[in-house]
Amino acid sequence: MRDSTRQFNAHADKYATSEVHRFGASLPALLEYAAPVSVDVALDVATGTGNTALALAPYVTEVTGVDLAAKMLAHGTARAQEEGLSNVRFVLGSAEQLPFADAAFTLVTSRHAPHHFRQVGRFLAEVFRVLQPGGRFVLADQISPDAEIKPWLDRFHVTRDPSHFTQRTVAEWRELATAAGLRWEQDTLVPYRMDFAWWTAQSGSSPEAVAQLREQVAALDPAGRAQIQAEFDEAGELIAHTDYMMVVRLEKPLA
Ligand SMILES: C[S@@+](CC[C@H](N)C(=O)[O-])C[C@H]1O[C@@H](n2cnc3c(N)ncnc32)[C@H](O)[C@@H]1O
Repeated sequence: MRDSTRQFNAHADKYATSEVHRFGASLPALLEYAAPVSVDVALDVATGTGNTALALAPYVTEVTGVDLAAKMLAHGTARAQEEGLSNVRFVLGSAEQLPFADAAFTLVTSRHAPHHFRQVGRFLAEVFRVLQPGGRFVLADQISPDAEIKPWLDRFHVTRDPSHFTQRTVAEWRELATAAGLRWEQDTLVPYRMDFAWWTAQSGSSPEAVAQLREQVAALDPAGRAQIQAEFDEAGELIAHTDYMMVVRLEKPLA
């Protein structure tokens, strides 16, 4: 079983009620870029509990959410029923091997997930394959502000959640997406202030992991602390940091 499947099946109940994931500011930004319309047939990759798929559903013909973690998908199915949304379906599957036909979708989204993907080139090739020519792909994911802080940030995030793989810079994303044949249309950054107690509880971090995270921030130089906007209480204890979510709209060219 993959790290992501284990991590998200174990913490699906907490995730389903997480306001940060359900209502966080990357979601309205993603919806604005996606501009969903009634003829759209949409796919949300690594949908988790369906936050993005369920937000798209009222605007499109049909939306499919795909994810590796069955327990996350079960929450999505229950919420679709509660909200009376009958045009949403949830499918178990991998972002790197999407179980769908070529050109099956007019709109693809993926939010707060690609930093878990080990084979991002294969993911982007799969998005390209399942999109119709002229189709849109809106990606929202946490990024590293620059290449220098990236190894530190990845260590920090892996200590908290072993299924984290890497958060890429905007420049890396642009290169990867362009190499996959997608046209980069528009991007923005959305800050997320992460309350430390909430953030570590959400991932089920052990007391040892919490102590390591505090030590990692204590050892970070002032420039790095400024980049993650580390906040401390009067006793010098870490209380929050900020992650940046990139939201980007891409298109599969018509020819
Ligand atoms: C932080 S959750 C994001 C969920 C959702 N997109 C949202 O906006 O709330 C990350 C999800 O990515 C899924 N995931 C991680 N790696 C995956 C992969 N390679 N293929 C499919 N799903 C994956 C996990 O199972 C988890 O449900």
